[in-house]
Amino acid sequence: MRVGPQFAPIQSLRPDTPTNAFDCGQKDLNRYLRKHAWNNQVADISQTYVALADSSVAGDYSICAGGVIVADVPKQLREEWAPKYPMPAVLLARLAVDVHFQGMGLGAALLKDACINALKVADVVGVYVMAVHAKPDAVKWYSRFSLKFDPDSAGKEGTTHMFLPLREVRRRLSR
Ligand SMILES: CC(C)(COP(=O)(O)OP(=O)(O)OC[C@H]1O[C@@H](n2cnc3c(N)ncnc32)[C@H](O)[C@@H]1OP(=O)(O)O)[C@@H](O)C(=O)NCCC(=O)NCCS
Repeated sequence: MRVGPQFAPIQSLRPDTPTNAFDCGQKDLNRYLRKHAWNNQVADISQTYVALADSSVAGDYSICAGGVIVADVPKQLREEWAPKYPMPAVLLARLAVDVHFQGMGLGAALLKDACINALKVADVVGVYVMAVHAKPDAVKWYSRFSLKFDPDSAGKEGTTHMFLPLREVRRRLSR
């Protein structure tokens, strides 16, 4: 996807992508991109996409397949029925923008690209919901894009589990 004149189109991570200077302000997210994202990609655990600017990574996101228990999904997003087995999900495992490029709309563009990819998966195998394990500082940001969470259910390691049904993604992208 094309994002803006200062960024190259979002592309798949490659072994020679220059990730070392990436700094989004969160050490664990920096480390993930620098040290683990490529290994996970080779191992078919997740796929990472990057937006480059001046030959360095300006932003990235990683997605993988997952499952959610419907009881974790906020009531207002659920169907009438609530199966006990896990429902298919695409997990947006990481999303970050380098501090030099924050506030330029790149985060929103990366999220849209992740939604487009989730929809491609959904068109082939069926996906109920896109899920994000949001860090405390990012909950408000994801809420801007209609991701919802259940205030009574806590995520792992201080994260908040947020959700966007694929039918909502489909509706928004077909506008
Ligand atoms: C959160 C993050 C991805 C946003 O990316 P970004 O490219 O700066 O965001 P955008 O430019 O698309 O959006 C900017 C808008 O969101 C707002 N915003 C930015 N960070 C926000 C936050 N944490 N909470 C609420 N609003 C936020 C800005 O004020 C701006 O508002 P405006 O359009 O009304 O001026 C980025 O700040 C980041 O990488 N943070 C560190 C890593 C992180 O927390 N990742 C999420 C992990 S789950």
